Amino acid sequence: MTESTTIRWEQDDTGVVTLVLDDPNQSANTMNQAFRDSLAVITDRLEAERDSLRGVILTSAKKTFFAGGDLRDLIRVTPETAQELFDGGLAIKRNLRRIETLGKPVVAAINGAALGGGFELALACHHRIALDTPGTRIGCPEVTLGLLPGGGGVVRTVRLLGIADALLKVLLQGTQYNARRARDNGLVHEVAESPEELIAKARAFIDAHPESRQPWDTPGYKIPGGTPAHPKFAANLPAFPANLRKQTNGAPYPAPRNILAAAVEGSQVDFETAQVIEARYFVELAAGQISKNMIQAFFFDLQAVNSGANRPKGVEARQVRKVAVLGAGMMGAGIAYACARAGIDVVLKDVSAEAAAKGKGYSEKLCAKAVAKGRTTQEKADALLARITPTAETADLAGCDAVIEAVFEDTALKHKVFQEIESVVAPDALLCSNTSTLPITTLAEGVERQADFIGLHFFSPVDKMPLVEIIKGERTGEEALARAFDLVRQINKTPIVVNDSRGFFTSRVIGHFINEGVAMVGEGVEPASVEQAAAQAGYPAKVLSLMDELTLTLPRKIRAETRRAVEEAGGTWTAHPAETVVDRMVDEFGRTGRSGGAGFYDYTEDGKRAGLWPGLREHFTKPGHDIPFRDMQERMLFAEALDTVRLLEEGVLTSVADANIGSVLGIGFPGWTGGVLQYINGYEGGLSGFVARARELAERYGDRFTPLALLVAKAEKGETFTDAR
Ligand code: NAI
Repeated sequence: MTESTTIRWEQDDTGVVTLVLDDPNQSANTMNQAFRDSLAVITDRLEAERDSLRGVILTSAKKTFFAGGDLRDLIRVTPETAQELFDGGLAIKRNLRRIETLGKPVVAAINGAALGGGFELALACHHRIALDTPGTRIGCPEVTLGLLPGGGGVVRTVRLLGIADALLKVLLQGTQYNARRARDNGLVHEVAESPEELIAKARAFIDAHPESRQPWDTPGYKIPGGTPAHPKFAANLPAFPANLRKQTNGAPYPAPRNILAAAVEGSQVDFETAQVIEARYFVELAAGQISKNMIQAFFFDLQAVNSGANRPKGVEARQVRKVAVLGAGMMGAGIAYACARAGIDVVLKDVSAEAAAKGKGYSEKLCAKAVAKGRTTQEKADALLARITPTAETADLAGCDAVIEAVFEDTALKHKVFQEIESVVAPDALLCSNTSTLPITTLAEGVERQADFIGLHFFSPVDKMPLVEIIKGERTGEEALARAFDLVRQINKTPIVVNDSRGFFTSRVIGHFINEGVAMVGEGVEPASVEQAAAQAGYPAKVLSLMDELTLTLPRKIRAETRRAVEEAGGTWTAHPAETVVDRMVDEFGRTGRSGGAGFYDYTEDGKRAGLWPGLREHFTKPGHDIPFRDMQERMLFAEALDTVRLLEEGVLTSVADANIGSVLGIGFPGWTGGVLQYINGYEGGLSGFVARARELAERYGDRFTPLALLVAKAEKGETFTDAR
């Protein structure tokens, strides 16, 4: 290899070399083999021609500055190939170190996103200038993929910012900064307003600093804020691991732990040794299962879902200009805000002008908060609010090209509401219902244009929850599906697509999580242990507290309706052991959940949770009746996973990526699993291991854990759950 294929050398007659990152075979520059080879060639040349050079500018010819490690390579790393990754990583690090110690000024002119590996390249430069464009994002998001920055990012951020700031501002949260915030937080030195200014500033730095070196290569350098040996730091150190556990709730996320170890250990040794320590912790994560799960879900699956792998092809994209939101309650108010924030005009209708105005009040509150926190300007907030028109008049819906209904969960009422408005809105308006449980096909019977009717299931709170579940009814047309998909993308949310079924995918599957937790209480397991098991499995909400939020009356209502439907279709109803617990809680003890002031938990007058209800132990708990902690966790995880497989078998779910993304973003399936089907793929021993374990659980806890035929067949063939694309 004597030629650089991905880094272009452009030299002017003043002795300034511009290194242009420009991989000819990819839309973004990544740390692939071609880059590793190119970097080696470039480094040799810089050293050979050192004396005739005045300085170096590193910039990109792509939209992103540099994208980082190639995730297609990383997801394939196994313990057997880990050494290769270790060696390749060290080679890059050594070459960056050679450039950093060249004795000539090296400037990163960051003209696009520099995340992960991209920021690591920039960190090896003496001076960093970021172009202030919407596309410029800077930081180390590796932790969100179960990894750590393995290209010197831990070593250099610790030396640049100090251990505490490096961990909290960059490494542990994976925050992505825009150009200005990156400067304010010390990640870059300067901001430029235009590409011309970017290069002019880079040249000015070179002119002013003919002999640059890094702070950490300067005599007398000390890590800002001290090393762990510093008494003040040492005093705080014991709290670090505990704080980390708090952040992840004790769930098995290995990346924060390795990041902490690499930062602290690396701060106590010389630069070269620190690089090796970082590499070791990086490779350990990359070779493990959890980074693979997270890369699969949060990179590949998310990209497939958002880019429209499930959107009908050939339907022209259309933007919604004016949406009617029917019902200004909790969901309608949130949906109105999300639409207005995306620039869509909203007519928010409720039964009275007061109720509608109250719904708009929700947006007013969110806007005031965003302005106070500096997340938006008063001007933008005012414009957002001006787009929402609250009303009680049907006539105000004229011209709306989409309708999102969010009135009470009642089929007859929903039918009535659609009848009132169908002839008023645009003649081809998209008709959506935000029902969380009612079959879309039945609801569609209330409208004339059934092909334009579709389910658009938002999650609460709408402004924070990134997912929308699109439900295709039996008569929903392809065009409506495409338009619903485009609408969800227009409001910057992630759409998954499922076929109609009671509870769809999300509401049905989360029910299994809750049922399993409640069933354990009924079996006599200590309720606090059940809560702890859910938290440590990585669920964002503990199971009994979630039940209280949803109310105990809701599952009874859903159960009654589902049971009726099953029996009407000639089937037999299999009772779940959770049912008797819920029935006793409501009928015997009058505890209906948080909104009723009492549920599995006690609540204070003002609705704050005040500990688990002591009566649970009295009426349900059998002292000494503990089941293994792992069983408790896996009962919840398996119950959800097994029903998801059933949904695939039933054709309600048609895509693995949708299942993975929907489960994590919609119903809190633990992120470390990479989603509910990736959890099965990544289970110890793969699908066969999962099947064997499911059989064990079935033997101990009931038939509902018996693995389905589809799962067993796949396991026998050695397959995994993946989308054929
Ligand atoms: P809510 O009770 O807060 O709001 C319902 C609103 O509809 C009330 O403001 C009511 O005045 C209004 N309304 C009733 N009849 C109306 C009519 N004829 N015309 C216009 N407005 C009318 O209920 P929420 O929680 O907002 O739920 C609404 C829908 O969203 C339900 O179908 C529910 O199943 C679904 N959903 C709820 C979720 C949740 O977490 N609460 C999540 C996802 C969907």
